[in-house]
Amino acid sequence: MSEAKIKAIIYSLHPLERKVLLHIGADFKDIMAKSGLGEAEALTGISMLSDRGLVQCEKGEHKYYILTPRGEHYLKVGLPEHRLLAELGRGEKKMSELTLPREEVAPALGVLKKGMLISVAKSGNDIIIRVEKKVPPQKNPLEMFRGGIQASKVPESQRGEVQELIQRGLVKEYMQKTISVKLTPLGREVAGALTAKYAGLDLAEEVTEEMLKKGTWKGREFRHYDVGLKTQGTAVGRRHPMDESNNILRDIFIEMGFQEMEGPVVEAAFWNMDVMWIPQDHPARDEQDTFYVDGRAKLDSKLIAVFKEMHERGLKRTHTTKGEWSEEIASRMLLRTHSTATTFRTLAWLAERARREGREIENGKYFYVAHNFRNEKVDATHLAEFFQAEGFIIGDNLSLADLMGFVREYYARLGITKIRFKPTYNPYTEPSMEAHYYDPKLGKWYALINSGIFRPETLKPLGIEKSVIAWGMGASRIAMLLTGVQSMRDITGGTCDFEWLRTRPVLSRSIVR
Ligand code: PHE
Repeated sequence: MSEAKIKAIIYSLHPLERKVLLHIGADFKDIMAKSGLGEAEALTGISMLSDRGLVQCEKGEHKYYILTPRGEHYLKVGLPEHRLLAELGRGEKKMSELTLPREEVAPALGVLKKGMLISVAKSGNDIIIRVEKKVPPQKNPLEMFRGGIQASKVPESQRGEVQELIQRGLVKEYMQKTISVKLTPLGREVAGALTAKYAGLDLAEEVTEEMLKKGTWKGREFRHYDVGLKTQGTAVGRRHPMDESNNILRDIFIEMGFQEMEGPVVEAAFWNMDVMWIPQDHPARDEQDTFYVDGRAKLDSKLIAVFKEMHERGLKRTHTTKGEWSEEIASRMLLRTHSTATTFRTLAWLAERARREGREIENGKYFYVAHNFRNEKVDATHLAEFFQAEGFIIGDNLSLADLMGFVREYYARLGITKIRFKPTYNPYTEPSMEAHYYDPKLGKWYALINSGIFRPETLKPLGIEKSVIAWGMGASRIAMLLTGVQSMRDITGGTCDFEWLRTRPVLSRSIVR
């Protein structure tokens, strides 16, 4: 290893590593003793050295036999059977005369009878215990377990006896974890340099307040950070990609001078449909397309009157509907199917405010990145809930050219420039226009936006004489383009991958291919 590399390693050693490295031998206890570190610290040092390839660890397990608390006790006072024998001496004794504690008599008798060293006979109300075979005083067999003994060191001939002591609850097995540590060749080189060339090396661990005040940091050498070390990733909270993508859309509107509007998700059919000149028998009102919810909206009676008139008699009062326009239908509650509901609430509010203040309604630009719901069949690009970036511009003599200009400008800010326009139909806009974007990778055109100029039938009842260009753009589609995800279900649906949510790159205003 080169001189420079060794130096780099030495300068980056953690204090625990430095302490441990100089005392690496086979025995872990030895390392602890010599380095003066506790078990946890020594282990930390070793594992860091091992991560760098300076030491090699071998972990093992050894079986030991150790005394139980009862075993410890009998080691001190002697086994009951030995004490009973000692008490009996050469002859015999009545059970009632024994001084051995009662609870120890039974096990002692058991062991001695099994060895045929004594006999037991009834005598009236008492029992006579007699020595049958005289044996010299025994050494306490628990002695060998004092401080623990490695199982492999117990002689073959004593294995049976050990099992009996275990069964009597005097001895138990204990698994001792062991670790043996060796220097690797690199470790040997580093350790060598640490004791020779770098023996007196004194590295500061941190810049202290005092060093800063006195300026002593200037002369100091500091431990180097190892910026190449891999760390464990932390999963911190972060924005959902849908939210992040929506914020990008929001930012672009704000850059372009738009104001944000806001409206309810649970909406009256009136605001979601009736104000938009959508007939009450329009198929989009079906339960199959719209989620209705319980309850009825309280609607403004003046607004009800003007829209009723518009629906029933039309702009030129020559219109005829199949039946009456029903307030009952208009007051149904639903999950808004598009944020155009909020566009109309905003228009109504702007008109009302202008009227109250006795002036003309102001020109302006408004947007809303909103959550909407449709009772749709779920597939790769459609979920029952979705986001739309809604917006409108109110002004004088606004035309389709203004609308196209806005669309080009807006999407250019997302890096989307290959756009074509196509006429379409909406009940509430005339003319109506879609814009499509060309995806060169998929070789396909995708619908980006549905838009148009609001019909006078929708504006007149609100008392608005100005022109309004408006649109709803698919925000979910943009999220797919910015994340590069192939299915909407991977962003807000059931197949969204949590690992991806945690590790995906932050979105930028460019399409991912
Ligand atoms: N509401 C339309 C939709 O959901 C979008 C739109 C808004 C169209 C405003 C024209 C004007 O697709």
